[in-house]
Amino acid sequence: MSRSPDAQRMEKIVSLCKRRGFVFQSSEIYGGLNGCWDYGPLGVELKRNLKNYWWHVMVHERDDVVGMDGSILMNRAVWKASGHEDTFSDPMVDCRSCKARLRADQVIERKGVRQCPNCGGKDLTEPRPFNLMFKTYVGATEGESSVTYLRPETAQSIFVQFKNVLEVSRKKLPFGIAQIGKAFRNEINPRNFTFRSREFEQMELEYFCRAEEGMKLLDYWLEERLKFYQNIGISREKLHARTVPDEERAFYSKGTYDIEYDFPFGWQELEGVAYRTDYDLSQHQNASGKSLEYFDEETKQRFVPHVVEPSAGVDRTVLALICEAYSEDEAPDEKGEMETRLVLRFHPRMAPIKCGVFPLLKNKEPLVAKAKEIIDLLRPHLTVFYDESGAIGRRYRRQDEIGTPFGVTVDFETLGEKDATLRDTVTLRERDSMKQERVAINDLAGILTPRIS
Ligand code: GAP
Repeated sequence: MSRSPDAQRMEKIVSLCKRRGFVFQSSEIYGGLNGCWDYGPLGVELKRNLKNYWWHVMVHERDDVVGMDGSILMNRAVWKASGHEDTFSDPMVDCRSCKARLRADQVIERKGVRQCPNCGGKDLTEPRPFNLMFKTYVGATEGESSVTYLRPETAQSIFVQFKNVLEVSRKKLPFGIAQIGKAFRNEINPRNFTFRSREFEQMELEYFCRAEEGMKLLDYWLEERLKFYQNIGISREKLHARTVPDEERAFYSKGTYDIEYDFPFGWQELEGVAYRTDYDLSQHQNASGKSLEYFDEETKQRFVPHVVEPSAGVDRTVLALICEAYSEDEAPDEKGEMETRLVLRFHPRMAPIKCGVFPLLKNKEPLVAKAKEIIDLLRPHLTVFYDESGAIGRRYRRQDEIGTPFGVTVDFETLGEKDATLRDTVTLRERDSMKQERVAINDLAGILTPRIS
């Protein structure tokens, strides 16, 4: 059976990610570990650019948000109070024929009969809950008293530190606490490359407010988050805000949106924006016996704040950035014949490398020396990459393929050999249009810096 264009596109993306060092299978030389991924030299830069930009927009650019960085292991009582120990589960079904373990929503139904999507078998167990938290033991004894879990979301450390952060930051409602960090879920069926992983990162904001502000802030944060995705280069047409219906929403949430992206494998959630009411703080207040109330100095009232939570996945957003950027077009090769050009059209803000620097020929010392001077000149301002090997067209293609938005070439004109007025100028090539302009070396940092920030 031939694969659909979307499936083929996804295969090309996965293969490019490995070939160019964005994403590798974790523990690959031992056969991998399902649901776990390693980011290579380019992947880690892309991920960092995303996290840094999120932090910049959500914390540094605002007066009403502060950050924190909580531990991954927490007292088990946190997970009891939050409800995760009892209810953080997916319904799981076993196929008795091929022994596959399936999420109940993966089971196909034909003419009212449930079937295994792997082998077509009809001998399936009834769905039963499977807790997604990874259990572990703290200390030298492995017993009930030492049990805890790898956190399945970063949010809970924000809730349990609410009082400490409030006291030290002296913020007034509404205000938020932001965190970026690892989360772990023992997903029954990790799939779609990094989309559903067992170890992943989240970027979460808990924005505390008064009850009467909750619904308005939910819409405010949805709009802010949609803007964010557009500012990192994701087109609005590929984003969708889904209103989560009552029957799918957590019982304590008064409203939730899923921000979905049009991946090659379908529309899927990038981020949830949820109005969680005062559920989390109240649960922890009741379970710990410690007050998590806010004192309003104007009205002299004490109350447990409500919270609106935009919660985004780092890995899913990185995957969306790569899917969005991936494109193939036609460009002339060295002999002027058209060939397919593979290009990652990253927003310059997200691109792992901002500028390639190339001496036209590697065996001409003055060209190489000038190119290295330019590297030193640009390095304090942006990530640069020096490449002297192969024909210049090949070098451009290699940078196109990893999404480098700019390329600087040092040629004989730079040395002033043909025309003294061109001394210390270079060609600056733009990835998407492939247009080239001649600019002075001294102007380069000033031209490039605003284009990448
Ligand atoms: N604190 C709320 C919370 O954790 P969630 O919808 O379960 O809500 C938030 O997760 C985001 O975390 C998701 O929108 C997604 O981007 C990311 N995420 C969740 N599970 C994931 C997984 N197995 N692999 C990759 N990312 C995941």
